[in-house]
Amino acid sequence: MRNKLLPTQTLVILLGAVFGAVGYIYKIDLDIFKTIGAILMIASFVGLITVVSLAIQRYVIHGGPYFPSNNQATDAIMLLVKELKPKLAVDLGSGDAKLLVRIGKLGFKAHGYEINPLVNFLGKLNVILNKQSANITLFTKDLWKVNYNKYDVIILYAAMHMIADLEKVLFKNSTKGTYIIMNRFKFPNKKPLKIVDAGENKIYLYQV
Ligand SMILES: C[S@@+](CC[C@H](N)C(=O)[O-])C[C@H]1O[C@@H](n2cnc3c(N)ncnc32)[C@H](O)[C@@H]1O
Repeated sequence: MRNKLLPTQTLVILLGAVFGAVGYIYKIDLDIFKTIGAILMIASFVGLITVVSLAIQRYVIHGGPYFPSNNQATDAIMLLVKELKPKLAVDLGSGDAKLLVRIGKLGFKAHGYEINPLVNFLGKLNVILNKQSANITLFTKDLWKVNYNKYDVIILYAAMHMIADLEKVLFKNSTKGTYIIMNRFKFPNKKPLKIVDAGENKIYLYQV
């Protein structure tokens, strides 16, 4: 999930500023100039909000954006979950509970931790609409503050800048024998038990 949007947004903000400055300095009074200026201003505003929110996600909560696992990755993760037969699984950064609903439908119990209350609300709706409330519980909580001990399978689809710290924290604080399923990114120092090809992504399986 390397953020390719950030340079584009920064460029739009800069373009908006340059365009605005040129218009102001040279007192350009052309309709087409004003229309382009207005579009760039709106795009700059949206870009600025996105840049600020991404910066907060990254540097304040040490998290990443909402980006659901794609269908191929979800299918590959479910095959691993079926093999591992968790007593209690967890999705750290559970998003709209896409993975958790599938885990519930397989008959397993799981928890999800999601920092964004709005996204977690969508997740809760998803769980209710799919009649998985008996199997799946969602919490609005920072994944760095979770007690990982009670889970025997941990699932992660985190931003790249979180991976090295997650490796340290999870290998230190979860129970020995716990399985960790990672979508897309691999831990820098640990050797995976298994690597599964899931189209554009790879899924990595580790054991603590
Ligand atoms: C890439 S999405 C993955 C969603 C889901 N696990 C899936 O695979 O479809 C990552 C999710 O983690 C959430 N997140 C990011 N930082 C977090 C944090 N510190 N604590 C809890 N959730 C976090 C984001 O809001 C986002 O919904």
